[in-house]
Amino acid sequence: MIVQIEKLDHYGRGITKINNKICFVENALPKETVEIEIIKETKKYFLATPKKIIKESKDRVLSPCPYESICGGCNLAHLSFTKEQEFKKEKVKEIMNKFAKIPSDKIKPIIYDKPYHYRNKITLHTNGNKIGLYQKESNTIIPIAKCLLLNDKLNEELGNIKPKTKKDIILKIGNKTDEILSPTNKKDYIISYIGNKKYKISEKSFFQVNSIITEKLYEEIKRIIQEKKSKNVLDLYCGTGTIGIYIHECVDKVLGIESCKEAVEDANDNKKLNNATNCTYKLGKVEDLTTEITKEYDMAIIDPPRNGLHKNVIEKLLEITPKNLIYVSCDPVTLARDLNLLKEKYKVEYIRPHNMFPRTYHVECISILTKKE
Ligand SMILES: C[S@@+](CC[C@H](N)C(=O)[O-])C[C@H]1O[C@@H](n2cnc3c(N)ncnc32)[C@H](O)[C@@H]1O
Repeated sequence: MIVQIEKLDHYGRGITKINNKICFVENALPKETVEIEIIKETKKYFLATPKKIIKESKDRVLSPCPYESICGGCNLAHLSFTKEQEFKKEKVKEIMNKFAKIPSDKIKPIIYDKPYHYRNKITLHTNGNKIGLYQKESNTIIPIAKCLLLNDKLNEELGNIKPKTKKDIILKIGNKTDEILSPTNKKDYIISYIGNKKYKISEKSFFQVNSIITEKLYEEIKRIIQEKKSKNVLDLYCGTGTIGIYIHECVDKVLGIESCKEAVEDANDNKKLNNATNCTYKLGKVEDLTTEITKEYDMAIIDPPRNGLHKNVIEKLLEITPKNLIYVSCDPVTLARDLNLLKEKYKVEYIRPHNMFPRTYHVECISILTKKE
């Protein structure tokens, strides 16, 4: 069957219609004419793969990755990097409009840097014999010699890893230090830098995967904190304390809350490494520690995992209403859902997408909120 692709969905798949039913076509771009094979049909949609691109989009590029057709990692490797920025900005605009009625002019231009070799971490899957990444939509392991998203030095380290156990293997590299966390060197942690701040990161602690974009993001947070003259700051979902420590010199005090024990241990060490004596950390889920969220705080930096904020946290923020909120999110849909609730007492100043995960459909956003008069 031959179809015309109309637009991209939020996962970077081409969209067309067959007998008025929506059809998602992997690896197809708007304005392309494609011969497709339907691989799934449900009541609501078709799923298809392209057999042949009959008329190519001018935005199509050749993916440089040898695993492109089997690995599910880079959904946008066939789209030009310039168009990728446009896709992500439009995606954020659509989602914000649909789920939170936030107008397009509140979405600022996207921040981006290089398309490849940006990742400072990889999780390798192994079954004791093979080691690599999962094949698209399956748990089959495809051995890889390198991943183009990964820092070059981590790609070199990949070659040294042997599949001895069935446990996932995590490799990380420190920004500016090039220290490597790997089973081959048995280190418990590495040191990484964002700007001039020095951070200890253990295997289980969260650390943003793209150090270049992270610095731009943290600089934006610092600028906002200075502009708003924030004094007492909550750093909710603080991980290893990175954001609070980055801005600690600009404020009176920071309270970080985080549920991962190793991350809180790292945060306390990071406090010492950076002489951030005005930072304090509490271990626990934010939704269980809402009594810590008190009226003395005039700024809350919120950086939750993909599923966004627990209703107890939203309720507490609406109750104590810090003057400003900075909400950082890696999922625009849950961000829009939460902003829609926070809008009861807050005005959204702006949302800025950051291309933290180039060549994939994922996008990080920062949103700045001010309490309504
Ligand atoms: C997106 S990361 C942000 C970390 C940090 N702000 C940074 O920039 O590196 C989210 C963090 O929230 C933590 N987390 C997940 N669920 C949580 C919860 N219910 N309460 C507190 N922390 C949680 C995770 O362990 C992770 O460190």
